[in-house]
Amino acid sequence: MRSMGKLDIAGVVAKVAAGTAVDEASAALGARYRRDHLPAGVTPTAFHQMDPAVLDDPYPSYRELLRGGPVHYNPRRHLWILSHHQHVREAAKSDRVLSSAEGVARSRFSLPMMLTRDRPEHTRMRQLAIPAFTRRALESWQPVIDELAAELVGELAAARGGDAVKQLAVPLPIRVIAHILGIPPEDYARFRLWSDKAVQATDIELRPAALKKSGNVLAGLLRLHSYFHERMAAGRLLESGTVLGRLVDAAEGGDIDPDELFWFAILLLLAGHETTTNLIGGLVHSLAVNPDQYELLRERPDLIPSAVEEQLRFGTPIQGFYRTALQDYEVESATIPRGGRVLLLFAAANRDPRQFTDPDSFVVERNPTSHVSFGYGVHMCLGAQLARMEGQAVLRELVGRAGRIEITGKPVWKPNSTLRGLDELPVRLGVSGPGQRP
Ligand code: HEM
Repeated sequence: MRSMGKLDIAGVVAKVAAGTAVDEASAALGARYRRDHLPAGVTPTAFHQMDPAVLDDPYPSYRELLRGGPVHYNPRRHLWILSHHQHVREAAKSDRVLSSAEGVARSRFSLPMMLTRDRPEHTRMRQLAIPAFTRRALESWQPVIDELAAELVGELAAARGGDAVKQLAVPLPIRVIAHILGIPPEDYARFRLWSDKAVQATDIELRPAALKKSGNVLAGLLRLHSYFHERMAAGRLLESGTVLGRLVDAAEGGDIDPDELFWFAILLLLAGHETTTNLIGGLVHSLAVNPDQYELLRERPDLIPSAVEEQLRFGTPIQGFYRTALQDYEVESATIPRGGRVLLLFAAANRDPRQFTDPDSFVVERNPTSHVSFGYGVHMCLGAQLARMEGQAVLRELVGRAGRIEITGKPVWKPNSTLRGLDELPVRLGVSGPGQRP
């Protein structure tokens, strides 16, 4: 095993700066577009994910976009927006034209990981990563997930409630990721602190006001890098059975670039931590505000997998990701020009009435397998099954232990336009008596 190189923070900073410059140039181009006429089939819009009203509740805006034509364009942001289910799915599949290489968050900024690579580099990286997520690997993690869900839901139920986000939705996924990476329990606290900082990379908008966030991302990455560096040099984190160990075992000749391993671990943190937190927090919220659906789930626990799919659709933990058009890209009668930055609004697509009947209702029997919460095409989520396992384990414990879920204070949503989820959810859990237990 070669040793890890120095983390090229200067390179990351340079990319952040370059991303800012390109974004500014884009906005100027947008101003020119505004003066000229818009291409046929394109509807102008003022929709912007970071507007306070949209951050507060994006669904009225999504409904408006869904009522409109196939392509919307925000001239001020120079941004092309797709919201209809069919078009979002097609766009996610059109990775040869709609590139991820300039990053998938708002700003054109990417880290060296498969999420932000196009073919053929993406294919090489994904092939390398697949051995970490085989059925055998997933099965080997099931007991730990079950144990964690029992412990955390058990504590919440024993106290008759608490904050379902802070006490359940946050600790469960981070402890699962720490476990599969082989991080020892005594390091969980600092590992979580650094990953909380690094994960802010998903919602950076490169303006001076966002500098603090960029600073946090870089600080988190640096600390994680030296932690991984030291541990891997000491032969840790690469044991058989850990995610990185599986990659090393499966790599031809057993040799794999340690920097690549580091960035893969970071990708798991960025992609699999807050997303799953938002899924679990959202599940508890949806079941609390729809007591009839919770009752049904308690009567029919066989609906648990379907309820998790429904929450994925209904809450859409990643609301939307961005692409850059490498060539003109056609959507029905509209053309998005080459170089355009395109937002694929997964969350709007998941509420498209052309695809889902009564889309704004949470229905645990729906089993909406065509939702796009895990994306579609070559970048489709590698950890989808793991996230489902976590959501299902939590629900099994909840229906077994709580007769009802009541919200006892104001739920607080995070001000994050990409990763939508709850920051606080105070709940009371009603006891489930022996007669009530399903
Ligand atoms: C509810 C939880 C999750 C949601 C909603 C989610 C959503 C997504 C989405 C939408 C993508 C596609 C990105 C794109 O098209 O640009 C993606 C990719 C990815 N996800 Fe997840 N994810 C979740 C959990 C996880 C977990 C638990 C892991 C692993 C620990 C994970 C690992 C990945 C990876 C590695 C990719 C990149 C795949 C590629 O680029 O080929 N995700 N995820």
